[in-house]
Amino acid sequence: MSEPNGGTFDVVILGGGSGGYAAALRAAQLDLTVALIEKDKLGGTCLHRGCIPTKALLHAGEVADQTRESEQFGVKAELIGVDMAGVNAYKNGVVSRLFKGLQGLVNGSKKITLVSGAGKLVGPDTIEVDGARYTGRNIILATGSYSRTIPGLEIDGQRVISSEHALELDRVPASAIVLGGGVIGVEFASAWKSFGVDVTVVEALPRLVAAEDEESSKALERAFRKRGIGFKVGKPFEKVEHTDSGVKVTIAGGEVLEAELLLVAVGRGPTTANLGYEEQGVRLDRGFVLTDERLRTGVGNIFAVGDIVPGLQLAHRGFQQGIFVAEEIAGLNPAVIDEDGIPRVTYSDPELASVGLTEAKAKEKYGADKVKTYNYNLGGNGKSQILKTAGFVKLVRVEDGPVVGVHMVGARVGELIGEAQLIFNWEAYPAEVAQLVHAHPTQGEALGEAHLALAGKPLHAHA
Ligand code: NAI
Repeated sequence: MSEPNGGTFDVVILGGGSGGYAAALRAAQLDLTVALIEKDKLGGTCLHRGCIPTKALLHAGEVADQTRESEQFGVKAELIGVDMAGVNAYKNGVVSRLFKGLQGLVNGSKKITLVSGAGKLVGPDTIEVDGARYTGRNIILATGSYSRTIPGLEIDGQRVISSEHALELDRVPASAIVLGGGVIGVEFASAWKSFGVDVTVVEALPRLVAAEDEESSKALERAFRKRGIGFKVGKPFEKVEHTDSGVKVTIAGGEVLEAELLLVAVGRGPTTANLGYEEQGVRLDRGFVLTDERLRTGVGNIFAVGDIVPGLQLAHRGFQQGIFVAEEIAGLNPAVIDEDGIPRVTYSDPELASVGLTEAKAKEKYGADKVKTYNYNLGGNGKSQILKTAGFVKLVRVEDGPVVGVHMVGARVGELIGEAQLIFNWEAYPAEVAQLVHAHPTQGEALGEAHLALAGKPLHAHA
């Protein structure tokens, strides 16, 4: 059903991105009636402007690199060039297939009414869309996030761009400066370098991907250096000027960098302004919606999920929160989501994947003398050698206790996070994981080997 004229529902959801549509689908399974309000396209940032298209770009970059490096494997191939029209057609094809699938899921549910339009919270149980009022016994705010910038730095969409513009480029720029060495910054730097762009990342903090374990940052920096990706860390941005051919960026210390484009990737802000939230008493902190651990805002039966809730801005967190709230509304009393147990993957080359605590955070929480770590180098892993990738699997454990952090760097390690997150979330001890057989030769074996070593019985490693 779509385009209705208001009504009363068990659940009214504002925003059809990862958090909102997951809540809608789960609520419908639980026999609740749902109005799902979306002003743009179902699927939101992740599907249309984030996770999916960026990973397609990164994969195209991987194909370019593999072609360039094919001779290392005895295969003779020559990279003639990267045709952005072709890359974009491939990327858009992936997005549109997933979009059709998602529309099918939502439209196929008799319980969900999809409302096209911009909604506003006008009462503790009501959202208005183009004059029509949707009243919910429960309301879920799921309005997502937007690309932030910093004061005085205007995104013009031409030379100073956000990740949304970067996804729509119709050419391969000769050079680019990436402002921000967080997840978006390093992913674009990586993809662009693969396409042949001369890239420099500028980061204010002392290291790239500063939220990750320090050893992961160091490994990524080493790999970037080897790939010829420039980066300046500990260097806050000062100003940008336009030149005849692009931009001139000044960073702390007075150094000036020039390039065709400046990509601004300094974080994403919550989309919560002018939506009636504060007027209805929903508490905001720097724009983020404050909730308790059960995602209640404290106003009526209003819940919030996804990027507007302080914490990791990740699609899979949004999915899980959406499912959680639907189950909470249905009275299933779901278990509170442990934020540390949410896996994190950065899809640069090399990839970074982690779950749980960094070594530094574990030491803060348990005391430095109670924390043990083990770093298994992928140099000892057959499949990683076949792929010619470098990196490691690092485990952080509490002495005589479970594994509280897993940190991985290397090609394709994002695919290993499934096992790592089970280990963390099931609070496994190294000796328990060491009993499990890992297929040989796989990269997953590196996880097994690291646990064998930490359990005191290393196989292809030194103790
Ligand atoms: P971020 O918060 O990860 O990184 C922004 C970086 O910009 C920080 O390292 C910060 O220190 C730096 N910065 C801020 N102001 C600066 C200045 N004036 N000068 C120099 N550096 C400055 O945010 P990002 O990368 O924009 O990503 C936004 C969100 O999207 C993140 O929460 C991220 O988790 C999510 N995302 C996740 C992906 C994934 O899971 N693979 C991929 C892309 C985004």
